[in-house]
Amino acid sequence: MSLPRVGSRIPTPDITIARYVLRMWRREGHILSALEAMHDALGDIFALPLPGFKSVVMVGPEANRFLLTDERDKVRWRAEGDPVTRLLRQGMLVTDGALHDDLREVMTPALHRSLFEGFAQTMGQSVDRVSGQWHEGSVIDLLGEMRRIALLTLMESLFAEDIGPHIETLWSDILRTIRYISPGPWLLWPDMPRLGYRRARKRLDAYLYRLIVLRRAQPADGNDLLGKLIAAQMNDELIRDQVLTMFIAGHDTSTALLAWSLYLLTIHPDVLKRVQAEIDTVIGSQMPEYGHVRQLRYLDCVIKETLRLYPPIHLGSRIAADDLTFGEFSIPAGTRVLYSIYLTHRDKKHWPQPEVFDPDRFLPAQGSARPPYTYLPFGGGPRNCIGAAFAQAEVKIVLARLLQRYQFRLVSGKVRPRMRATLEPSRGIRAEVHRRHGDTFV
Ligand code: HEM
Repeated sequence: MSLPRVGSRIPTPDITIARYVLRMWRREGHILSALEAMHDALGDIFALPLPGFKSVVMVGPEANRFLLTDERDKVRWRAEGDPVTRLLRQGMLVTDGALHDDLREVMTPALHRSLFEGFAQTMGQSVDRVSGQWHEGSVIDLLGEMRRIALLTLMESLFAEDIGPHIETLWSDILRTIRYISPGPWLLWPDMPRLGYRRARKRLDAYLYRLIVLRRAQPADGNDLLGKLIAAQMNDELIRDQVLTMFIAGHDTSTALLAWSLYLLTIHPDVLKRVQAEIDTVIGSQMPEYGHVRQLRYLDCVIKETLRLYPPIHLGSRIAADDLTFGEFSIPAGTRVLYSIYLTHRDKKHWPQPEVFDPDRFLPAQGSARPPYTYLPFGGGPRNCIGAAFAQAEVKIVLARLLQRYQFRLVSGKVRPRMRATLEPSRGIRAEVHRRHGDTFV
């Protein structure tokens, strides 16, 4: 028997596996099932045979720890030609080294726990502003409506800006900009012409630069993120890069999570009943407050389970800055190394019946047995999500407020995941909206 040695070739799909992968892809109708099939066939590390895109996918707790913590100094985030780098320029998400650390240090206090009571009020009010436009029995797109709530919440909380009056004007520019950084053929052909994107980005930029200019002219309370960035004496370009980074990373993710949570609740009425009973007991008909967040324990399990099945950031990307060795495999410098949160969260080795929606698996007694890095919806290591606490409070308050007052009846058929900048329900989620307690709509 020959033992595996360092330098073994990273498993790569051959023609038989490629056929199996294509079959799975066709059967399930989304590309993630192709990745799942490759993981099944090839194991926790495999190469993606794409022309001009030298990449490996890593899965599981050992791989995640390797990339996010143990070898973090041997990888970088920034990939020059990538659309996300072109869009965000020097945004924290796409910088490395001292610049990244300095930016993170400036921004972290704007998400401090002491500010969460105020954030919670904004979150609840944002729900009421958006749902105030709904009519009894009408059909809404939950993805679009959750985006409105997330945009109002984020802009008010981090930039003291009411984006409400601008949402309609900016709507298609926001969606086009998100599309620009979503996966597509441009990953293999970075200079591919992208119709309409430049104009969308210019309009979005004009809106963000206006916020910066207004704040410089009228310095308000400097506790929000915009205040911190200005106080750090950055120039307008660098501030715009951070504002746009937080604008996209901070609302597109929560949008997807909210939409997936509502979708899963509508197709699991027994779980929905338990959530509603908890909300009624803990909050009644009051506006949810930050103090309620910790008491909503079952809702917490539902959100965690939704993040497990549909992690909005389903894949993290790094570039090997040095040669790396993972077990018996060598990964040459320059390789794109992707860690798959989606596949880790559905790994049969750690999750019994991984495809089943079962919030009870996050009850405290059951959660403790899982090894670290098996569950990482917010990433891990020093580059984990800066907005994790904000997002968790937001999603809880928004869901609590919605479910306290409304019932949704699914109109869409089977909803499939789609890889955009986040993992979102393809074609949205159409649902009929009804008042829960029979109140009439205004
Ligand atoms: C459900 C909501 C969210 C999810 C699932 C999520 C997920 C993640 C993940 C997985 C990462 C690490 C990516 C990697 O390792 O490559 C990350 C990083 C980041 N997230 Fe979030 N996020 C969410 C909400 C937010 C919010 C609300 C904000 C801002 C207020 C935010 C801002 C960021 C930023 C700036 C980074 C980069 C951090 C760094 O590089 O130091 N995210 N997020």
